[in-house]
Amino acid sequence: MALLRGLHLLPPETAHRLALQALAHGLVPTARPIAPARLRTTFCGLELLHPLGLAAGFDKDAAAVAGLSALGFSWVEIGSVTPRPQAGNPRPRLFRLPERQALINRMGFNNEGLEAVRRRLATLGERAGVLGANIGANKDSAEPVADYVQCLRGLYPLVDYVTVNVSSPNTPGLRDLQRRERLSGLLEALLEARDALAAGARAKPLLLKIAPDLAPEDEAAIAEVALSLRVDGLIVGNTTVERAGLGASRHAAEAGGLSGPPLFGRSTAQLGRFFRLTGGRLPLIGVGGIASGADAYAKIRAGASALQLYTALVYQGPGVVPRVLAELDRLLAADGYASLGEAVGVDGGAALS
Ligand SMILES: Cc1cc2nc3c(=O)[nH]c(=O)nc-3n(C[C@H](O)[C@H](O)[C@H](O)COP(=O)(O)O)c2cc1C
Repeated sequence: MALLRGLHLLPPETAHRLALQALAHGLVPTARPIAPARLRTTFCGLELLHPLGLAAGFDKDAAAVAGLSALGFSWVEIGSVTPRPQAGNPRPRLFRLPERQALINRMGFNNEGLEAVRRRLATLGERAGVLGANIGANKDSAEPVADYVQCLRGLYPLVDYVTVNVSSPNTPGLRDLQRRERLSGLLEALLEARDALAAGARAKPLLLKIAPDLAPEDEAAIAEVALSLRVDGLIVGNTTVERAGLGASRHAAEAGGLSGPPLFGRSTAQLGRFFRLTGGRLPLIGVGGIASGADAYAKIRAGASALQLYTALVYQGPGVVPRVLAELDRLLAADGYASLGEAVGVDGGAALS
């Protein structure tokens, strides 16, 4: 905890860089949480010891995959990765809102680019958990669809699944790819490339990560397109540009995506709506504001079969993983569930929308 307090005295991006370096060099205590059999889950055919994964954006360049698995995450999503290296937006671009345990970021897909990430992944050796790659397009790309396809082709052989990120608020125009026609075109191109890469073997899952700020008609269109094209699952979802309820928080007016507890209600309500829109036929990953076992449980009841977090790791440190899992297990047991799967979607989204 003293280490965490020390990190929080530094500018947020410096603290993040140091934490990542420590993780990359195995300098962070490992906290492999006990994962009771009740917490085992699967999404898109991938087996997880427990539902809790690390969300994209923490390890954009796959610099610390082994260290992050050692913290106890059962799965890790690297990225977002773009074809060419990209510096991202000018600093400062990451802000702490400590009174709400929240962050606002406008990083803008800073990453070392596809080739550097590929090289690093190729040296990983045997992995402890499931690994996914989150892909995006370069900011100045004239052909974003080609960017996504290039990243898919480059990363597919090295990971267990790929996530298509069309929901970052920090790349101008990116979120427009969530509109029906453009989304269909993008996903068709990606699914065709994916199926060619699978070459008749079982294809690795392709997931779509969406924004929490969609109009109802766009949500309905996304659900329809995802089901009809057979996207494997949805990650619900990314950071929000909404600022309601932040009050007088010092950095509340900064541009970018808000994450952490103020996002929880919004993203969980959306998860419930997508569970209903897809009739429970599409695996959903719940992300956004998870900071406790009760939060994790609410996402599962709303329809998530696996979970990710980011911001709670920044505020609570590595202890967040065993804490959330122990609480979640207790809550499932108290309600009489022998396995997590039995609780997925029991709220049907009804009470949440
Ligand atoms: C600093 C920062 C950078 C992020 N970068 C990415 C990214 O590159 N790609 C992506 O899909 N999501 C990115 N995210 C979003 C997270 O993956 C997650 O969806 C969001 O933070 C909500 O979860 P949380 O409330 O647990 O943090 C980023 C979030 C933060 C805080």
